[in-house]
Amino acid sequence: MKNILVTGGCGFIGSNFIRYILEDTDFEGKIVNIDSLTYAGNIESLIDIAEKYKGRYIFKRVDICDKEALETVFTDEKIDTICHFAAESHVDRSIVAPDDFIQTNIIGTYNLLNLAKTHQDELELFHHVSTDEVFGSLGAEGFFTETTRYKPNSPYSASKASSDHLVRAYNKTYKLPVTVSNCSNNYGPYQFPEKLIPLMILNALEGKSLPIYGDGKNVRDWLYVRDHCVAIWEIMKNGKRGETYNVGGNNEMQNIVVVETICDILDGIKGLSGSDSCKNLMTYVKDRPGHDQRYAIDFSKIKNELGWMPQESFESGIEKTVKWYLDNSTWIERIRSGEYLKWIKNQYE
Ligand code: NAD
Ligand code: DAU
Repeated sequence: MKNILVTGGCGFIGSNFIRYILEDTDFEGKIVNIDSLTYAGNIESLIDIAEKYKGRYIFKRVDICDKEALETVFTDEKIDTICHFAAESHVDRSIVAPDDFIQTNIIGTYNLLNLAKTHQDELELFHHVSTDEVFGSLGAEGFFTETTRYKPNSPYSASKASSDHLVRAYNKTYKLPVTVSNCSNNYGPYQFPEKLIPLMILNALEGKSLPIYGDGKNVRDWLYVRDHCVAIWEIMKNGKRGETYNVGGNNEMQNIVVVETICDILDGIKGLSGSDSCKNLMTYVKDRPGHDQRYAIDFSKIKNELGWMPQESFESGIEKTVKWYLDNSTWIERIRSGEYLKWIKNQYE
């Protein structure tokens, strides 16, 4: 792998992945980040990386639905590997407005697969980043494995399931060298504050209510984003072509426990207690339609075959995450005030 095309590298996981590859691995090649810069893409998340790795880190504003632009980037940059993160990623948005999810997650992935197929002779690997949500919902017992049946429940997870099937089909039919990872809920630095953890941290800091859907007893398996990036890189280097790998955090937790933990950390930092505690901001609101009850990952395949295990406990990961949001108020301010999107408009449109 010399010239890696990363799609969606200005998003939460993609930007952490690029940072990890360039800063903390022995990769010596070039990363070409293509991102259309939707509301969720933030070029500022990699501003220091762009400066430090001039020549080895290249950003191009490209929509994965634009076939011609994809072809140009692939050829101009002599790409040999694709790592595909770009997606519409928020379940609540997919319930209200599924169109972009169908376009980007299904058609965009299809375009990338065709691009890869056209250049199959030059292509070492197409890695597809997917989610555990394709498996649907678990009851109190059991874990998702790589052979669990697909049963997506939201327009988001259905669009990701569809993209997973296309990736599989291109491997089976055309022998495209692919790997797929299905992981659980990520958290950590640079996550857009619409997802549970950053939303709760920022709302609590501003004294706003902390909306808990339904009874708050839904369970997610929290994976620190850096652990996820390490897993993806391991799969890209040593994963068996044509295989899928489940990646989990070993941190199953009910949503209310997650929110209470964030409140405890913030109360400790701000010296709050009793009627001043952030916990008083917790508000139970109408449930998400089709809300999956529980996700839990069996990651024994990647552990046994590639020696990967999550390193971060939830206690240490959430402390680091809260601290990151406290220390990066400019990044947050620019997103929350709309300044960042205004800047993109001036710069690119
Ligand atoms: P994100 O929403 O933070 O980032 C998505 C990025 O894709 C953004 O930078 C956005 O601008 C870009 N993008 C969207 N549409 C595009 C298009 N048409 N062309 C080019 N770029 C486009 O998402 P994330 O949380 O970083 O998730 C990354 C990937 O990981 C997604 O495929 C998602 O399904 C998957 N995933 C995420 C999680 C999680 O907990 N966040 C868990 C499992 C899997
Ligand atoms: O499991 C992997 C998936 O995790 C990824 O594929 C998705 O891209 C990612 O968004 C995430 O999906 P979730 O729906 O699990 O994440 P979210 O942060 O939106 O919600 C986590 C849980 O918290 C879920 O049970 C819904 C609940 N929730 C969420 C929000 C935003 C609330 O109770 N209140 C909220 O305000």
